[in-house]
Amino acid sequence: MAPGREQPRVAVVTGGASGIGEAVCRHLAAAGRKVAVLDLDGAGAMRVADELGADGHETLGLEVDVTDRPGIDEAFGEVRARLGPTQILVTSAGMVAFDDFAGITPERWQRVVDVNLTGTFHACQAALVDMVAARWGRIVTISSSSAQRGSPRNAHYAAAKGGVIVLTKSLARAYAPHGITANSIPPSGIETPMQHRSQGRGDLPGNEVIASNIPLGRLGTPDDVAVAATFLASEGAGFITGQVLGVNGGSVL
Ligand SMILES: NC(=O)c1ccc[n+]([C@@H]2O[C@H](COP(=O)([O-])OP(=O)(O)OC[C@H]3O[C@@H](n4cnc5c(N)ncnc54)[C@H](O)[C@@H]3O)[C@@H](O)[C@H]2O)c1
Repeated sequence: MAPGREQPRVAVVTGGASGIGEAVCRHLAAAGRKVAVLDLDGAGAMRVADELGADGHETLGLEVDVTDRPGIDEAFGEVRARLGPTQILVTSAGMVAFDDFAGITPERWQRVVDVNLTGTFHACQAALVDMVAARWGRIVTISSSSAQRGSPRNAHYAAAKGGVIVLTKSLARAYAPHGITANSIPPSGIETPMQHRSQGRGDLPGNEVIASNIPLGRLGTPDDVAVAATFLASEGAGFITGQVLGVNGGSVL
């Protein structure tokens, strides 16, 4: 099938109410996919779904916490009933955290791992039920360049995102015989509400300083990541699996 013309398969995007996830929802819808927007921010999920619906796309917005397994299973059931079986999953739900290593409490560690890694596990396991039945699927996880480089004030976050990368590679191997691909995008330096909040707390420097450390000389946009996710989720990307595709302006080579 030619690039840009995709079958109307059902795509679930976790964290679809903001930033990278929202851009992924818009790009997948524009490519012809039916998009279910899942987010802890229910009003935000409805807003994105309503805006896409107003443009003629078939969509659904649902409030769900990715750490809540019964809630995740219920949400995928609702997607199945209202849009059809899930055949594409993009996991963008995540929380960043900045702490000196010695100050990470066990509770803080657990929360960061729960949201970023275990939440990804829950969504993948729920989505794979439909993908295995269809003998077709695309999983794209959003990890982080911090997992590729290590990160002094993000040991919990970087470890969780490293887990996301190797979870993705493991799924690629386990589900290749079922016609399902799994790839991860570790972004860096993408201007989103998450990044603005980190800058507001003083955990990240201003845009000029961030841009000066990026070889391409600018921050990335959510669209930059969505282009890569939509490609990895495309019909034509069926021979690409277990890969890590950095979207980082050349920060990690
Ligand atoms: N912005 C960057 O430069 C950057 C860099 C590396 C990795 N990432 C990753 O990209 C992903 C998207 O980040 P973003 O920058 O777009 O942030 P964002 O805060 O704009 O969007 C994240 C979304 O995830 C949702 N979310 C958070 N916890 C959730 C939960 N428990 N259940 C369901 N939804 C939840 C939020 O409500 C929000 O809508 C995250 O996984 C983040 O870790 C971003």
